[in-house]
Formats: sequence, structure tokens, C-alpha cells
Amino acid sequence: MVFSPTENEQSLKGKMPRLTDSQITALFREPRTMRKFEDRSVSDDQLRQIQELTYLGPTAFNSQPLRITWIKSIEARERLVKHLIESNREKALQAPINAILSYDRLWMERADVFNPRATESIKGYYTTENRVLSAAQQNANLQAGYFMIATRALGLDVGPLGADFDGLYEEFFSGTDEHPILVVNIGYGIPTKYPRDTRFGYDEVTRSL
Ligand SMILES: Cc1cc2nc3c(=O)[nH]c(=O)nc-3n(C[C@H](O)[C@H](O)[C@H](O)COP(=O)(O)O)c2cc1C
Repeated sequence: MVFSPTENEQSLKGKMPRLTDSQITALFREPRTMRKFEDRSVSDDQLRQIQELTYLGPTAFNSQPLRITWIKSIEARERLVKHLIESNREKALQAPINAILSYDRLWMERADVFNPRATESIKGYYTTENRVLSAAQQNANLQAGYFMIATRALGLDVGPLGADFDGLYEEFFSGTDEHPILVVNIGYGIPTKYPRDTRFGYDEVTRSL
């Protein structure tokens, strides 16, 4: 997918919000974490669009260490829910799609593809197992955030879930270098009756130096 701004968009760049206020509301203020979903399927094309948008978000050296496993079949879903706490099982079972998000510990092996100009710098910097691993985790977690916002931008809802990630590793990724970090239920959500919990305000969480 290639994005080329129109002349009009170029001239407005930096002067206007990218989205209208109502679009910002639709993307940020309105969507809630969903724990129930309508009986309505999500297409492969939608999953493809989620992936494409997610991978446009920034990562260190463009490393993109996130890997996505779509859980579509009933059999795979049964294997997934074994590694969720009891209170999360039903939430995962009735979502049309679950995504297991993982990081790839061997992300550097594709440096010639994701950053051909900096391949040598990457190899020169990520010289210890600790650096390689923390970059994989940090950047995949960032991408997990982009993933949820991209999914919402496309009109779908998300329900992120914690899991027994060691158990999930053994179940789906045993012997590989992919390590799961998050489960995300995806579909058309049925809103909760509970109001949103408090979000911190500007003065509580920012400082200016
Ligand atoms: C990393 C992560 C783990 C989460 N784990 C669970 C979970 O195990 N079960 C659950 O019901 N919600 C889980 N959530 C959802 C959060 O509780 C929810 O997104 C947050 O309270 C904000 O709710 P809101 O979007 O309705 O405002 C998780 C969210 C994230 C990002």
C-alpha cells in the first residue's frame, strides 16, 4: 500500500489535526475494551488491513519484531483458552477472531530487508543477548499498541487479554524463537454497561523541564 498525500493535504500539513474531532472521538474517546462480541465474522481482508496499518508504526531501526497468529478454527481456540484464567475463557471463546501477538527473538536476521542501509550498525549495536531480547520485547509491545489502534481505526473492537504465556509458548510455538506477549480478541463488540475507569489527567502524569 502506498500513501501519497494530495496537494491539498500537503499544504495543510502541520496546520490541522490529521483527523477531524469526530474521527478522533471515534478512534480514541469512544472505543472501549470489549469482552463480548456480536455473532458477526471478520474477513481475511480486514485482518490483512490490520497487519498493514500496524506495521506502519515506528520501531527501532524499523525492526518490526511483532509476529501475529490468527486463531480462526474452533480447535485452535480450544487450545488457546486452556492457557487463559477461567474468567477470560468465555471472552476468548465467543470472539470471532483471536490474535496471539508474539515477538521474534531472531528479528535481526531480517535486517537486510527491514533496514538495508543500517544492517552493519544494527549488528554493531545489538551484540548481547540482553540487547537483542529487550529490543524484541520493547518494539513488539509498541507494535501491539499500534495493532489495537489500527484495529479500532478499521471499525472493529479489541479485547486484550493476559495469558499464561509460557503455556502458550509450549502450545503453539514450542522450539521456535517466537514468544507470545498478548492475546487480543477481535470483532464487533457489545459495549459494557460499566463506565470507563479514570484516566490520569495532564497534571498527574506529565512534567515540563
Ligand atoms: C496488556 C493488557 C492485558 C489485559 N488483560 C486483561 C485480562 O486478562 N482480562 C480482561 O478482561 N481485560 C484485560 N485487559 C483489558 C484492560 O483491563 C482494559 O483495556 C482497561 O481496563 C481499559 O478499559 P476501557 O478500554 O474499557 O477503558 C488487558 C489490557 C491490556 C492492554
